[in-house]
Parts: sequence; C-alpha cells; structure tokens
Amino acid sequence: MIISIAHSKGGCGKSLLTLNLAPLFKDLVLIDLDTQNSISQINQFRERKFKIFQAKKQEDLFNILDDNEDKNIIIDCGGIDSDINRLAVVNSDIIIVPVKDNSFEILAFQRYIKVIEKLIEKNPDLKVLALLNNVHAQSKDFERLKKLVNKYEFIQLAKSIIRTRADYANCLELGTTVFEKDKTKKASKEIQKLYKEIKDLKNG
Ligand SMILES: Nc1ncnc2c1ncn2[C@@H]1O[C@H](COP(=O)(O)OP(=O)(O)OP(=O)(O)O)[C@@H](O)[C@H]1O
Ligand SMILES: [Mg+2]
Repeated sequence: MIISIAHSKGGCGKSLLTLNLAPLFKDLVLIDLDTQNSISQINQFRERKFKIFQAKKQEDLFNILDDNEDKNIIIDCGGIDSDINRLAVVNSDIIIVPVKDNSFEILAFQRYIKVIEKLIEKNPDLKVLALLNNVHAQSKDFERLKKLVNKYEFIQLAKSIIRTRADYANCLELGTTVFEKDKTKKASKEIQKLYKEIKDLKNG
C-alpha cells in the first residue's frame, strides 16, 4: 500500500503524522519529499531507525517505488504543489490531506482539491482522505469542512480526528512516537484509530 501525506500548504502536519503513523505499519518504507527533510533529520535521533529514502528527482522516486513494490510506503510530501509531489500522489493508493478547521485552512484545502481533481483523472482509483489535524481538544463543530467535503464525491472526511497535543512533537524530540511511548494515551489512541481507518479504506 502506498500512502501520500500531502497538501500544497506547508505546516499542516504532514511530517508529524508520517512519523507518528510509521511504527504501526509492518514492512514500512518512508519517502521524504519534504525540502527541509524533516523526517530524515528526526530519524537521526532515533535508536530504532525508520527506513527512509529521499527523492530529489522524479526518477529517484520511481526507482524507490519500483524497488519497494512489496512494502508499505508512506510518502511525506513537501508543502508545495510541485511535479514530484503530484507524481507521488498519482502513484498512491491513498492520499491523506491534513486540514485544520479554520477558514484560511479550508480555503487552502479548497485550492488543493482542484489539484487533486486533476490527479484523479490520472489515477481514478486514488482514495482521498481529508483529515482534521491539529484541532483544539474541545472543538466539535466541523460543519464548514464537512460542507466542503460533501461537494466532492471523491473525498472522504476521516472519522478520526487528530487533536492538538504536545505529545506528538514531544515524542519526536525524544526519538520516539506516541504509539511507541504509551499505547494508552489519547494521542496514541487517535493515531491507532487513524491507522485502522486507513487499513479499512484500503480493503473496502
Ligand atoms: N496534531 C498536532 N498537535 C500538535 N502540534 C502539531 C500537530 N500537527 C502539527 N503540529 C505542529 O505543527 C507544526 C508543523 O508540522 P509539520 O512540520 O509536521 O508540518 P508539515 O506539513 O510537514 O510542514 P511542511 O509543509 O513545511 O513540510 C510543527 O511544529 C508540529 O509540531
Ligand atoms: Mg514536512
């Protein structure tokens, strides 16, 4: 299974989600397309390293995908709309787009949906999961995002919600992830629920 975590907007949590999801997958390879190479840098602090490849050119990306056909792959895309990021998404089974529930973020998502629409023409099997990320612990009203998502039959809004929790980044700084640190804490449960949803989406 190939999953791209992608958005043309920077700072929405792609790298944080990539790393926190990673330990739940068996036979996993990560691909780092982030120009700042965040996940590769964070990986240096880890005792048990994730297998991460960097791809600077489209050819690199094709080679990594070819060499790891039998693996689970998560691609941490860069926060811009570029050819290589588009190529990653087109070659994926699932794209996860992290979105916050404020109006600027929803506008940015609306612009990115236009890009996704074009990519689906090239890969009609692509499953698109919009994921509320970095939302306040008490927020319950996501009507604006739901309304937008409902306009497009090719997008699903994830049932999982990833709230703003210090644990996500704190664990990464300590060379671990929320799931590896403590399976019972809230952040870890959110990630486990998301993982299950991804699995179900792939199989369903
Ligand atoms: N659920 C969350 N809870 C707390 N902080 C979060 C959450 N999601 C993201 N953040 C914070 O938001 C910032 C941006 O996250 P991250 O670097 O993962 O974004 P990105 O989409 O990979 O950015 P870029 O496009 O620049 O690569 C980081 O400081 C991260 O810790
Ligand atoms: Mg990043």
